[in-house]
Amino acid sequence: MRRVFPRLLAVAALSAGVLCVGTAAADSILEFDVWMQKIDRHSQSVLLALKRQDAASATAEARELEHLYGLMERFYEARGEHDDPLLLSWDGRQRAARAASLVERGDFAAAYESALGIARDCRACHDRFKPIKPLG
Ligand code: HEC
Repeated sequence: MRRVFPRLLAVAALSAGVLCVGTAAADSILEFDVWMQKIDRHSQSVLLALKRQDAASATAEARELEHLYGLMERFYEARGEHDDPLLLSWDGRQRAARAASLVERGDFAAAYESALGIARDCRACHDRFKPIKPLG
């Protein structure tokens, strides 16, 4: 289901003539939106888990963010954008990884700071790089 839905959207958008880019590009941008929705959710729930010092959830949330930022990093890399969006993705992935390992060491305060940095950087990327521009 998770994979079918974006595909249906892509088909609908294409047949409506909304998108004039290739199917492959449309697919990955729609996939990007799915990652973003997850990033949105996990960036908040990791902070909540850290606040209540729930090590298991906080670690799982941080690792998921690390994974999602890694996907975003590869997305920008594949587009040949070796610029700020790639750096911001890299930075978010590092912060998530750091948060997870700090939790493992029991340092919830430092992990919270690291995770907060992820949430603070959303706008840095959105202000300049949202929406994704078609290539070429
Ligand atoms: C490295 C860049 C980057 C970072 C960092 C980033 N975003 Fe985004 N985000 C984008 C782009 C680009 C879009 C628009 C995607 C498009 O064009 O379809 C977007 C879209 C979104 C959307 C709308 C998704 C949709 O369904 O249309 C949400 C929600 C969102 N971001 C939340 C966040 C939150 C919360 C954070 C931080 C925790 C964050 N983003 C960090 C680049 C980023």
